[in-house]
Order: sequence, then C-alpha cells, then structure tokens
Amino acid sequence: MAPLAWAVCFLMGGLLLGEGSPSLGASVPRLRLSYRDLLSANRSAIFLGPRGPLDLQAVYLDEYRDRLFLGGRNALYSLRLDQTRPDPREVLWPPQPGQREECIRKGRDPLLECANFVRVLQPHNRTHLLTCGTGAFQPICAFIAVGHRGEHVLHLEPSSLQNGRGRCPHEPSRPFASTFVGGELYTGLTADFLGREAMIFRSGGPRPALRSDSDQSVLLDPRFVMAARIPDNSDRDNDKVYFFFSETVPSPDGGPGHITVSRVGRVCVNDAGGQRVLVNKWSTFLKARLVCSVPGPGGAETHFDQLEDVFLLWPKAGKNVEVYALFSTVSAVFQGFAVCVYHMVDIWEVFNGPFAHQDGPQHQWGPYGGKVPFPRPGVCPSKMTAKPGRPFGGTKDYPDEVLQFVRAHPLMFQPVRPWHGRPILIKTNPAQRLRQIVVDRVEAEDGTYDVIFLGTDSGSVLKVLALQAAGSAEPEEVLLEELQVFKVPTPIIEMEISVKRQTLYVCSPLGVAQLRLHGCETYGSACAECCLARDPYCAWDGASCTRYRPSPGKRRFRRQDIRHGNPATQCLGQSQDEGAPALEATRVYGTEHNSTFLECMPKSPQAAVHWFLQRSEDEQPDQGFFAA
Ligand SMILES: *[C@@H]1O[C@H](CO)[C@@H](O)[C@H](O)[C@H]1NC(C)=O
Ligand SMILES: *[C@@H]1O[C@H](CO)[C@@H](O)[C@H](O)[C@H]1NC(C)=O
Ligand SMILES: *[C@@H]1O[C@H](CO)[C@@H](O)[C@H](O)[C@H]1NC(C)=O
Repeated sequence: MAPLAWAVCFLMGGLLLGEGSPSLGASVPRLRLSYRDLLSANRSAIFLGPRGPLDLQAVYLDEYRDRLFLGGRNALYSLRLDQTRPDPREVLWPPQPGQREECIRKGRDPLLECANFVRVLQPHNRTHLLTCGTGAFQPICAFIAVGHRGEHVLHLEPSSLQNGRGRCPHEPSRPFASTFVGGELYTGLTADFLGREAMIFRSGGPRPALRSDSDQSVLLDPRFVMAARIPDNSDRDNDKVYFFFSETVPSPDGGPGHITVSRVGRVCVNDAGGQRVLVNKWSTFLKARLVCSVPGPGGAETHFDQLEDVFLLWPKAGKNVEVYALFSTVSAVFQGFAVCVYHMVDIWEVFNGPFAHQDGPQHQWGPYGGKVPFPRPGVCPSKMTAKPGRPFGGTKDYPDEVLQFVRAHPLMFQPVRPWHGRPILIKTNPAQRLRQIVVDRVEAEDGTYDVIFLGTDSGSVLKVLALQAAGSAEPEEVLLEELQVFKVPTPIIEMEISVKRQTLYVCSPLGVAQLRLHGCETYGSACAECCLARDPYCAWDGASCTRYRPSPGKRRFRRQDIRHGNPATQCLGQSQDEGAPALEATRVYGTEHNSTFLECMPKSPQAAVHWFLQRSEDEQPDQGFFAA
C-alpha cells in the first residue's frame, strides 16, 4: 500500500484545538484581499480617469444628487452613483493663459506645481458647486453647474472665474481644510506665495471677509486637517466652525526647541470682527490642545502629537458628534499611530474652562487667574451675551477689553483628553503609514460596533474593530480585513463613506475606488468561518455568511459573535460543521521515494496549517511539520 499523506488546514489554532495557542497578533488580518480579489468579487470598482493619473486632491460626495465629484490636475469629474456605470463627465480647467509660464519663471516645478490642482469642491446652491484650484500658483475659484437632481451635467461658468487667494493654497500638497457654511467658505491655509501667512479665512458671502489676526500666537506653522460646522445646541446663534490641525510651538516649559502639538480651534459663524480692535479679524477664535497618549513603562507617556486625519461621527438625533482622530508620533526612534475619540462635551468643557496664560516667552504656561471680562471671550453673540437694557448685538458691540483679551489669550489651559483617557487603537511600527480614517457605527446581534476604516500610504484600506473588553483598560484590536484597493502603492488621500450605499470611496492621486464595506461571502461557506470573522456586518443565516441586518422582530436567529468569535457556541447544530473547527482536509496520495507537491492555501492569514502523515489506512496519522 502506498504511503499517503494528508494535509489539513485549520482556520484558527488555539481556540478550536482546545490548547492555548498564542495570539497571532492584531496585525494579522482575518482576510487579506488583493487588488484582483476585490475586482473579481465585485467588491471594488476603480475610476482612473481617461488619461492616466488624475492627481486627485479634492472630492465631494453628493448623496442628494447621487454623484461623486472629483478635482484633479487641470480637470474636474462627475461620476454617477445611482447606476452600475459611472458615466463620467469631465471639465478641463487648465491655468489661465500665461500663468503656467509665469509659475515656471518664478522657479516652481513645471510638472508638480505649475498646473491648476483643484483643492476646493463645496456645494454652493441647488445647481452649482464652488470650486477652487491652485491655478499654477495663482489660486482661482469658479462656480460649476452640476444641474438639478436627476440631471447629469458638469460645466464651468466662465463668467464666474475669480481670484482664489485665501480660499485655496498656492501649493498642490500643502495641508489645507475648508468647509462651506451659510453661503460662505471657511478655509484654514497659508494664503501667500511663500506659504508663510497662515490663517483661518472666511469669504464669499455678503459680509466682509474675515481673517486671523497676524499675531504670531494665534496660529503657529499650522497643518490643517479638517474643518466643519458643529452646532453647540439648538440655538443657531451659537453655531461654530471647528478646525482640527497641528502646530509647531516653542517648548512649553520655556526651554529651547520646538514641539508639535495637535489642536482643535473654533470660530463663531456669526463673528463679524471687532469695531476698533480686530477689525475684519476673528474676534471669537480660541484653540485647545488635543491629547492622545498612553502611559509607557516607567510612567513616561508616549504621545501621538501629529494629527493625520479627523472623522466626525454624527450619531442619531439628540446625541452629540463624536470626533475620531488619527494621530502619528513625532519621533525619530519609532513610528506609531493611534486613534483617539473625543466627545464634544469634553471639548466644550475645555473651552469653558481657564484660559492659558504666560507672563513672558521664557515663562511657564499657567491658568489665567485674573478677572475675565464679559461677555466671556470666545463666546458667540446671542441672547445670552446681550446685557439687560441693551439690544442683542454682534461681535462689533463687544467691549474692546473682551477683544484684547481674546487676542492675547487664544489658547485654553486644559487640554482635551480622549474618551477613556487613552487611544482606542494603537499601531506601532506598522508595515504602512496610516493616512485617513472613516468610521461606521454598525448594529450587530450583540451590540453596536464602530468599524474603523484606515487608509494607508500604500493604497490599501484596513478594516478594524476596537473592542472595549469589560474590566480591561486596553481595547482589543480585531483586524478584520486588509484590502489592497489600488494595484500599485499610492497614498490614500481621502475617504468618504456612504452608509446609504454601504460603500467607501477611496481616493489616491491615481484615482478613486468604490469599495463595498463588506463581502460576507468571502469569509467562507461554513458557519464557523463566518463566526470567526467577527465582522459586525456579517452573520450566518443558516445557509451562508451574509449581510446582517438588525430586524426588530428577531424573526430568525442569526449566528454572530463579535465579542469572542467563538463558533463552538454559535455553530453547534449547524449542518455543515457541527461546531467543529473550520476545517478543510485535503488528502494527497504519494509514492515512496518520489516527490509530490503538497498544497494547502487557507483563506485567512490567521489560519494555522497542520500537516499529518499517515503511512497506511489502519495507522494513526502523525502530526509533522513540513514547510508551511
Ligand atoms: C460581478 O458583476 C458582473 C457584472 O455586473 C457580473 O457579471 C458578475 O457575475 C459579478 N461577479 C460576482 C462574483 O458577483
Ligand atoms: C447658484 O449660484 C450660481 C452662481 O452664483 C447662480 O448663477 C445660480 O443662479 C444659482 N442657482 C440657484 C438655483 O440659486
Ligand atoms: C513519481 O510521481 C510522478 C507524479 O506524481 C509520476 O508521474 C511518476 O511516474 C512517479 N515516479 C515513480 C518512480 O513512481
């Protein structure tokens, strides 16, 4: 009888074999899907533009019109999302005649800088978007007609071309943030040719433009990441626009050197500047430090100080926004990334707390202990700030001492600490740098989970869960999927989520990928495989691994165990596996003194492969480890 060998693939070691096998580490994804895998499973579709890389910089997801607008190098695109084919429309928008030549003459890079890189795409009204581009170092803005809902048009209004200074940076790559609120564009940028004049700027409405005071303490070499209107409460007068950015500041203890810190800053929407002080300048700007750190060995904190990206999770009505922030370390020794979550109540509390004060440049910072003028510096003019007997006024009615105070004390003393006081996710020395974050709050059988999508600098997206285990300070990371969205390494520069479409739009300079949030069928065809995946989007429905949809009536039981991923409790009695390990056995027959190619390719990188050799039919198989 010929000796025979058979190969067995286990989908996970310890748990199923009943031995405490060491964890394979959070950095091993449950599934790793290549560019080809994603395309062939219809999980993703890619738009790369008609003429090679788009040099994509700006994207606007328009859920109302069911369209995705893209801004690239010398061009704008509109893609349809309500059909299987995107049916792209293109508008060419090169720099104004002569601009490219002038840009080159001034010593700028002809290829990388002397083109019109579109950096602003914001909804303007029911028929038009506002767009701005670098214009070969001469920023320029225009309106583009996009039609009403249901129409698919895209054309630039030539008569609307206007100087874009203050609304768009000169450089294609400089960090920049913008948001459009009430007919006005808010930008955080450096507004001059040399990239030195950092400011928060508001323009575009009937009111005079407003900018930051050029006093150096207001913004210190900022790298803007995000801007958004976040209401404090139902009183529209209190509406503020928040900016998230990093700064490089002098060492806080008065010592030599500089450090990087991350900030949340804000201005009132109804700020109109001062009357005698801060004329046409922000009179309500305040900022606070965002802290994201972990205690290290020996009590030293490891700080993640460089803000990379911010995602605002807007929960159901009646609840406040949650701020998900992705940070990196500013360290020559090791590279680390962390995700911290901030609650708006904690941010408000810091802005309502003491102002930071420094007696001189060489002094330490402390809380301001003197009398704070009324109305409290930084608050928006509203019914609350109107003095008895005086009509409700604007910031132009604020006393000079209030404006002087806010100008001298733009920084809050307390930092904003994250929820739970620590990051929900930490990655040290990862294989790829993390660039972008998007979060989806998903209802599963046993609770609500925040699925985190992280865009890397190598064209991939990581889909991660951060589980807060009961009684443990440290969250558990579950890396569900690693998705190679782009064929070649390219940084993910922007991600937009459509919960309605269950789709993530992943942008790199090359183009945009439309990626389904889940592909439950890829986890496998057995209950145990589905359960081990621990993907809140997916559950075993008795026949296959499919999208989990919470139903109020609980009409049928869906097998899912996000917290423990234990198929033994979930899959007993399920026809295919009977609660056994997700096991694939392949029998390979071989002959003595001859070689046979043995192949066992598990679907999941987390799987352990065990080889057994059985010499004859009535012998027990030996477990032996061949090369895996
Ligand atoms: C992907 O979509 C195409 C066209 O819609 C279809 O023909 C194909 O069968 C789909 N493939 C899978 C794996 O769903
Ligand atoms: C939208 O704004 C553009 C540019 O200002 C203007 O031409 C157009 O008439 C406006 N459309 C509507 C519906 O208000
Ligand atoms: C060895 O195996 C190969 C294929 O597996 C077969 O073609 C060949 O005849 C075998 N040689 C002997 C000596 O059995």
